[in-house]
Amino acid sequence: MIDNSVHGGIQVAKAKGIGLDIGTSAIKAIELQQSPAGLELLHYAVLPVPAGTIRNGVITNPADIGAVIKHVFKTGKIHDKEVYVAIAGQSVVVRQVRFPNMPADEVHNAIQWEADKYLPFSPEEAVIDFHIIGPAESEGEIEVMLVAAQNELVNSHVAAIEAAGLTPVAMDVQPFAILRSLGLESLENQRCSGLIDIGAGTTDVVIFKGDSLKFTR
Ligand SMILES: Nc1ncnc2c1ncn2[C@@H]1O[C@H](COP(=O)(O)OP(=O)(O)OP(=O)(O)O)[C@@H](O)[C@H]1O
Ligand SMILES: [Mg+2]
Repeated sequence: MIDNSVHGGIQVAKAKGIGLDIGTSAIKAIELQQSPAGLELLHYAVLPVPAGTIRNGVITNPADIGAVIKHVFKTGKIHDKEVYVAIAGQSVVVRQVRFPNMPADEVHNAIQWEADKYLPFSPEEAVIDFHIIGPAESEGEIEVMLVAAQNELVNSHVAAIEAAGLTPVAMDVQPFAILRSLGLESLENQRCSGLIDIGAGTTDVVIFKGDSLKFTR
């Protein structure tokens, strides 16, 4: 299940973790280690992506991208095989929605029925997950963070990562990954703030308050 709080999501359960960013212009890999002082960067590498291989976040040729990922790991001297990856683009949707008060298993069912109201693609062709944020301002309702990604995009990432001989252990969405990577959980003020990540192929706008994401496109 996803977690919309900045410090909640990517679990560094093991002492080390590999983050992989498959961008439209470049693939980046980092190896982080948990230390008493915080996260320590052990290794990283960045290599360019052949033009046209990634369109709107979807990897059109997983075998080619798999070869680049392999090269990135070799260049960065990264040997672990398990990777965390974050996805983006118009095939990835993050929405805060409201439901009448109900337990988590009922939200799961309600989402299946209601998802087509919020998604620009068919829910049947997508991976859908949610996180109950808490009571809504309006009485008798709850706020739910809905995250969906088209199967085509998810499967193309899994195929490219596996083509590189690696195993994807968790797939996050970039708005949450950006907030966590910036360490914004330390922000104490309760004002809304925003950030924009202008990538080569996709751009994320993220509005957050304290440690929780309020809006993203
Ligand atoms: N330090 C820099 N100075 C100027 N331009 C840069 C710098 N770093 C990256 N760029 C350019 O900014 C653009 C975005 O780079 P970035 O690595 O964020 O995109 P990406 O992750 O590959 O793409 P996307 O996330 O959209 O799929 C690229 O065209 C890149 O060449
Ligand atoms: Mg990017």
